[in-house]
Amino acid sequence: MAVPFTEAADTIKSRLDIVELVQRYVVLKKSGRSWRGLCPFHADKKPSMDVNREKGVFICRSCGAGGGTLNFLMQIENKTYREIILDLAEEQGIEIEVQGPNAAVSSKIREDKKACLTLQETALDWFTKQLTATAGSDNTAVLAYLKKRYPDAAFYQAAISQFQLGVAPPGWSKLYEALKQTVKSLDASPNLLEVAGLCVAKSHGTGYYDRFRNRLMIPIFNERGQAIAFGGRSLSADDMPKYLNSPETPIYKKSQVLYGAFQAKSAIKETGTAIVMEGYFDVISAHVAGIANAVGSCGTALTQAHLKLLTRLGASTIVLAFDSDRAGIAAALSAIGLIDPYLKQNHLQLTILLLPDGKDPDEFIMSQGADAFGQLLKNHTLPYREFQLNQAIAGQDVTTPEGRIAAADQLTPILASIAQPMVRSEYTRLFADRIQISEEALALEIKRHARTQQQSEHRQRAFEARKQPGKHSAATLTGKETGLLTLKKSPLAAASGEYNGQQPSVPGQKSWRMKQVSVEENILKVLLYSTETYQFVLQYNCEIEEDLLALYGTAHYKQILSDIIEDWQQLNTKDALRNASPLLEVTLQTLSIQYAETPEQLKILAELATQAESFGESLSFNVLSGPVLQEKVNLFLKGQIQLLKQVNHWLSLEAIYSQKSENETETLAQAYSLQEKYNDPLTESPHQWGFNLDAHQPLA
Ligand code: UTP
Ligand code: MN
Repeated sequence: MAVPFTEAADTIKSRLDIVELVQRYVVLKKSGRSWRGLCPFHADKKPSMDVNREKGVFICRSCGAGGGTLNFLMQIENKTYREIILDLAEEQGIEIEVQGPNAAVSSKIREDKKACLTLQETALDWFTKQLTATAGSDNTAVLAYLKKRYPDAAFYQAAISQFQLGVAPPGWSKLYEALKQTVKSLDASPNLLEVAGLCVAKSHGTGYYDRFRNRLMIPIFNERGQAIAFGGRSLSADDMPKYLNSPETPIYKKSQVLYGAFQAKSAIKETGTAIVMEGYFDVISAHVAGIANAVGSCGTALTQAHLKLLTRLGASTIVLAFDSDRAGIAAALSAIGLIDPYLKQNHLQLTILLLPDGKDPDEFIMSQGADAFGQLLKNHTLPYREFQLNQAIAGQDVTTPEGRIAAADQLTPILASIAQPMVRSEYTRLFADRIQISEEALALEIKRHARTQQQSEHRQRAFEARKQPGKHSAATLTGKETGLLTLKKSPLAAASGEYNGQQPSVPGQKSWRMKQVSVEENILKVLLYSTETYQFVLQYNCEIEEDLLALYGTAHYKQILSDIIEDWQQLNTKDALRNASPLLEVTLQTLSIQYAETPEQLKILAELATQAESFGESLSFNVLSGPVLQEKVNLFLKGQIQLLKQVNHWLSLEAIYSQKSENETETLAQAYSLQEKYNDPLTESPHQWGFNLDAHQPLA
């Protein structure tokens, strides 16, 4: 049942425990009647923040920061009151009524989500019943598979009951038959079974068949313990894929879910540590063996949302447990690269555990036991920086001067990226020693690297600053309740859709960046112009060979485009919604809900939607319709994509030159290979540039 915002806020406020919430960010120790810890709002040396549970307040005796629980969250998360309430509501499973022009649409979305949850729950119930059934179900193969994995009877039972493992028997439509009644009682169309990822529509004829057949079923729960998706393990090597997973659905977003989070919740809170493993069975075996703070990334890259989830569950340290084979090391390095930027803002420490002999955690625990795993955790985890640095010099022969220089080259960017001077100088000393060069020489390299880096960042910032939407528009555009569609008619709509920033003060790369931004904006504006153009752009994107998304280089526009595409794909599978209301409005509504937590992004989207109208009119879209409009849109896209490719090409070349490689031949070779890749007749030979891009004008 959805409740009005104020009612939800009251419920949430009545449940707040300031100590529990502050502890997600700061270590607190009991001191008399209150709790004490380091104040996160200034550089605190001794614990000067007091938190009082009974009164629900915090106060820093040193810097004066203070207030209630919500003030604390607003300050530390840098969010508005409304955003914090929305966060907490989501966390506590409270649904908040959406008001405004599209309330009907969002309530339809909400109903779909609810129905999906009911279907997953019913399916889970059915899968687990198949496992225990003694007659009438074909569960022999799954039971044999599980017994082979877990010969120990107690282990076998515990795995099944803790993780609610189930059976999808062989056959084509057993689950479908079992769920028919549920669909009816939900008053939904059978299509919902496909939306929920449980069944697949037959490509010939009508009807549905089961997505999961002849597999061991592993339910995936959200942190509240509701089943939201499934993984299905094949029973033999020739039945591919090894794991068949639920697709993304209205209630399942892979980037936001960690396998086992529900089961691991209390242990993570208790220990402050979460061990992130790769596979379903790594997590299952770990838990059953007594390592209860393990969660699984299950084949997806770790995201910021994953880190937020772990912080919310009470983790302050994350251990990544990976195989020590090449794939495992590569996976660990790429995971580090992805989450490094977010560690600090989520107040997380990261360490790496490489398991010996290329074993995965499941294999290690099953053969050596939980105690041995505990020993590894104690003695074999490395701070992620050290791990990264170790890997950077692995394979370099430091007995030769060439090897030492190469090793130093590898270390430099990593060391330069360490923000804390103490940590940086410690590692510099340690690794200079390890590769047998002088500490001073390495430190000098790092400084030089940092300087070049700063210069290019400075340039980028100067450019972005010019690109910021006007301050005065921000206030009107963040009004979330109004809904985006009303914003389209904002009087602030720019007269022209073209980017109208001034000429850049630093020539060269920036003019290409500006062109890129402007083309990316134009495409989005056409997309947002009307439901018709929206469909034409997305259809075009679907059909052309180059993926539009891959050509985008501006992070916030790329995000918007990718969210729109994803939303469109989802809408396309939802007959009901498609007929209910205009697609574009549904999409904008979904995005404005989704972006409620990122007001910046919402502002950018709103600005684009506002400008779309006049931009479309400048292309005469207002006097065209049907196939003629489609043709016009396609032509426009074709031209813009061509431009975008050229701009990208020039930017890549620019990047190569800005590396200031000492080896000119190498640089030229790279440039030529890029040129070949783009096969662009418009490009002149890099020789003619004399390495000076500034002399070139952007494409008109
Ligand atoms: P692995 O291939 O390492 O499998 O994939 P595993 O976890 O060791 O599985 P077992 O022990 O052979 O049963 C790691 C994880 O990647 C995801 C799964 O979540 C898996 O646990 N994955 C792998 C898939 O989603 N699909 C696949 O086809 C393979
Ligand atoms: Mn395994």
